[in-house]
Amino acid sequence: MAKKIFKLDTPNTSYIMAVVDDGSFLGHVYYGSKLEDYDIAYLLRTQEAPFVPSVNGRDRCSFMDSFPVEYPGHGVGDYRDGCIEVLSATGHRAVNLSAVSHRIYEGKPELASLPATFGGKEECTTLEVECEDAAIGLNVTLSYTTFEDVDVITRSVHIMNASSKELYLTKVLSACIDMDNREFERITLHGSWARERNIQREKIGYGKYKVSSLRGEPGHQNHPFMALVTEGTTQETGEVYAVHFVYSGNFMVQEEVNQFDSVRLTIGINPDDFSWKLAPGKGFQSPEAVLVYSDNGIGAMTRTFHDLYRNHLIRGEYRDKKRPVLINNWEATYFDFDTDKLIAIAKQAAELGIEMLVMDDGWFGSRDSDNSALGDWKVNEEKLKGGLDFLVKEVNRLGMKFGIWFEPEMISPDSDLYRSHPDWAIAIPGREPALARNQYVLDLTRKEVRDYVYECVAKILRSANIEYVKWDMNRPLSDIGSACLPADRQGEIYHRYVLALYELQNRLIKEFPYLLLENCSGGGARFDPGMLYYSPQIWCSDDTDAVERLSIQEGTALIYPLSSIGAHVSDCPNHTVGRVTPFETRGYVALAGTFGYELDVTKISEEERNMIPDQIAMYHKYNDLVRRGDYYRIASYQENHLYDCYAVVSKDKTEALITYIQVLNRPNVHSRRIYVKGLDSNRKYLVEGGEKAYYGNTLMKAGIPVEDVWGDFKGKLYYLRAVE
Ligand code: GLA
Repeated sequence: MAKKIFKLDTPNTSYIMAVVDDGSFLGHVYYGSKLEDYDIAYLLRTQEAPFVPSVNGRDRCSFMDSFPVEYPGHGVGDYRDGCIEVLSATGHRAVNLSAVSHRIYEGKPELASLPATFGGKEECTTLEVECEDAAIGLNVTLSYTTFEDVDVITRSVHIMNASSKELYLTKVLSACIDMDNREFERITLHGSWARERNIQREKIGYGKYKVSSLRGEPGHQNHPFMALVTEGTTQETGEVYAVHFVYSGNFMVQEEVNQFDSVRLTIGINPDDFSWKLAPGKGFQSPEAVLVYSDNGIGAMTRTFHDLYRNHLIRGEYRDKKRPVLINNWEATYFDFDTDKLIAIAKQAAELGIEMLVMDDGWFGSRDSDNSALGDWKVNEEKLKGGLDFLVKEVNRLGMKFGIWFEPEMISPDSDLYRSHPDWAIAIPGREPALARNQYVLDLTRKEVRDYVYECVAKILRSANIEYVKWDMNRPLSDIGSACLPADRQGEIYHRYVLALYELQNRLIKEFPYLLLENCSGGGARFDPGMLYYSPQIWCSDDTDAVERLSIQEGTALIYPLSSIGAHVSDCPNHTVGRVTPFETRGYVALAGTFGYELDVTKISEEERNMIPDQIAMYHKYNDLVRRGDYYRIASYQENHLYDCYAVVSKDKTEALITYIQVLNRPNVHSRRIYVKGLDSNRKYLVEGGEKAYYGNTLMKAGIPVEDVWGDFKGKLYYLRAVE
């Protein structure tokens, strides 16, 4: 019999769990569309003898292996992968949790040292379920928060060593959902450098499917996200169970279908190469997992994530603001620049209406290529004659803001820093650590290293009127070892590194709250909700080709609001793929992000240069809508290999912007139409440039014919305004 039922409601969903069998087991009962009933613990089948350990003690294993568990332990008869494993002083690894008490309160507490979604007392309700494993002296608090305005449940876990001996945590995941497998399909995001977050969808089967990272960051390759969707789910129909992880380091997300056709979906810190020593009385806080359920298809899931991240995760001065149109000199000059060159670019850019110059890699130490000087954060006055302050003032005199690039977490072997502190690099004694881009990673787990890094960055920022920082990270971690941690704490390095990164960024935004911070990692290797807590935008990919960006930005926008997606117009032939696309099209694609330029405006053709003021006007006209509106995917180039189309509709449904990109033209497809989404059926809309207004219903059901788009790589915007 269920002893206690917990029912968590969001505007359209319910999440139910039950304590059964004298508090011994916390079972997962239901997650899905909102229900009226709350006591539906009959689903746990606890009346039937085989499923109740107290009635059928001789076969407890069967119970353990089939019971849908809220937060499964390890090693006591449940043979599915669990959420927590602990190495005790006696050398045993089992964990079995019982629910002992609970607490419900308004609001949502911060997570110590970790980024997390937030909400006030009127916006959120939190449930904490206290669990314990009396055999090893472990207390585990499961936290759940619901939001009033979005269909989201966030979960995290706090572990406390209540014993008198040291314990070692070897696995601590943040969330689990045990469900029946209803012929689910799985959606995940995959890629590589310059090809991040492409969407993969497959039917699930028996066994386990895991997506993970051991790179010390989520990486270009995988993303801490998984959605299980009922068969045939579309943008508008079908059920979606999505999990996402607010964390910027090693993660795992896994679905496992077992012999009973139930599926276990888990997400958390990757347990590989993880261990955490917990002294008596000490605690460990897991990062947060975000759960989204939709019974209106993938589109509703997307809009829920966008609203959650825009309203309950992103912070700071720029969170709701239009970002300045920037020009970044990376693809324009690479390492070959000086004050004169930058000022020439800035002058031309200012005349065209560009609002900020960002000086990328190469301004410090002896950094003339990517082979040296990371760690030597002193202005190279050979290149920047007159110093940084002079350059910034000149740029400001042109009416532009100034931004700068750093890669604070790194150290080049050829640097003054490495020559004086070789032990500051992450390395295993007796092994030559592997280089990537000819650099090592700094051991940020050491306070003196963090302080050095912070002071380097802060000193530069204090020295001139710098209003933007691009914080880069251009290699994954490897050869994990810290010169300062004892043997039994080396397993903590990956997580300590992420905590150190958060501490650094926290210090930065506290001292410089006016800064526009853009995170970056060789493009989009660390595009995750953890980093979004510190920076309202993240550089999406080093691939700025308009066609490649369609897939990268579609995958990114599956979860992330367009306001957070760094996107620029760059030069052609594109530096990554050599493709030539029209300048207008590059502008349309960059519009679905923060918008800027990544080229030498003094060198492009007159014709292209002349298009920039109009492109910027377009950005100013549409950006409020793009940043704040609801995103609707209409067609996917990833799927049809021909064209891409999406709309952003204002929350009040009075305006909409549709972006149509025709990658490949085809003769005689006169019947191609855009079936608009998200409009108000009963209002009339005028398509800008047209003469007659039509009901939203007509534009959605009968569509808009695609006309006047001739050639490959061509695009067109349709701007709709409600007239009645
Ligand atoms: C990374 C970034 C680029 C650029 C270079 C500089 O690759 O993603 O945008 O800043 O580093 O080295």
